[in-house]
Amino acid sequence: MENELPARDLPTRDDRLGGVDFGEMDWFWRRLFFAVGLIGLAGAGCAPTTPSPAMPSGVTKWSLPQLSQATVDACLVCHSTKEMQRGPVLDGLPAWYLEAQLKKFQSGQRGKNSKNKAEQLMGVAMAKINSDAELAALAVYFEKQKPKPSLRVIRGNAAAGRALYVTRCASCHGKIGEGKREINSPPVNVQEDWFLMDQLRKYASGQRGVHPGDAGGVMMKAAAANLSPDDLRNVVAYIAKDLTVTPPLQKVGPPKK
Ligand code: HEC
Ligand code: HEC
Repeated sequence: MENELPARDLPTRDDRLGGVDFGEMDWFWRRLFFAVGLIGLAGAGCAPTTPSPAMPSGVTKWSLPQLSQATVDACLVCHSTKEMQRGPVLDGLPAWYLEAQLKKFQSGQRGKNSKNKAEQLMGVAMAKINSDAELAALAVYFEKQKPKPSLRVIRGNAAAGRALYVTRCASCHGKIGEGKREINSPPVNVQEDWFLMDQLRKYASGQRGVHPGDAGGVMMKAAAANLSPDDLRNVVAYIAKDLTVTPPLQKVGPPKK
């Protein structure tokens, strides 16, 4: 089975995949109740009639199922900074974007391209999600997690990258990389730099944004076309230096000559 990971890749902290760690679960629910409480307070204060913009389409916080820690942990096997990481950290990405991407994996718009092995891995992992409601709840869960400080590993010319970002990216991803929900354009200021680079390469080389039904992906693929590898490095170096909301875990050296 492709989705059975070798034991060395699993988190070693405890046996959280087999059973549920009740201590952590308790902590998780306490935080969730706290967060829901805060939303309630904020809602009562300002806009009681509109649903939270954080919620994916058609979902209210009352209709979300309870997530078990085991379900979240099944994702964290590949989506945390612990152990050997295989996928991007999802913390702090908006629920609408996470939900939309998960739906693309579900429908095969992503994850079925044999040239893109990482995406295929995620396609297989979709089997861990049992229902659309659970899918939406996972999207909301990851949105609520604080983005983590990350290692910056991409070197480039940030000044050149800035010029490129302003002319070629800002119209869709926003001045500060905050994204634009109206056009399904995600933030680019919470992901780790290696992942931004990896995805840009995939759009540019035709590994992502190739399914005809994937309008957003096709749009982004066009935006990455005719950018050189140096352009991509520069723009990612700029994003990581000036837009990413979390601090780097280390200083990055000058671009390689
Ligand atoms: C076996 C490893 C693995 C597991 C388990 C896994 N993922 Fe992934 N996931 C990946 C990889 C690798 C990618 C990046 C794919 C790519 O490079 O295109 C990814 C991508 C994603 C993306 C797209 C992120 C973006 O910004 O484009 C989302 C959303 C996602 N995963 C959610 C989940 C959720 C929710 C779960 C738990 C049900 C989960 N994943 C379980 C490996 C995994
Ligand atoms: C015409 C609008 C548009 C432009 C211009 C554009 N993007 Fe995008 N971008 C999008 C959309 C829409 C998506 C979501 C695509 C999808 O669903 O696969 C996206 C996705 C991305 C992603 C993937 C994020 C993730 O978490 O998977 C990255 C990285 C990205 N864009 C970076 C850039 C950079 C850098 C530029 C400038 C060189 C740029 N984009 C220009 C619309 C745009």
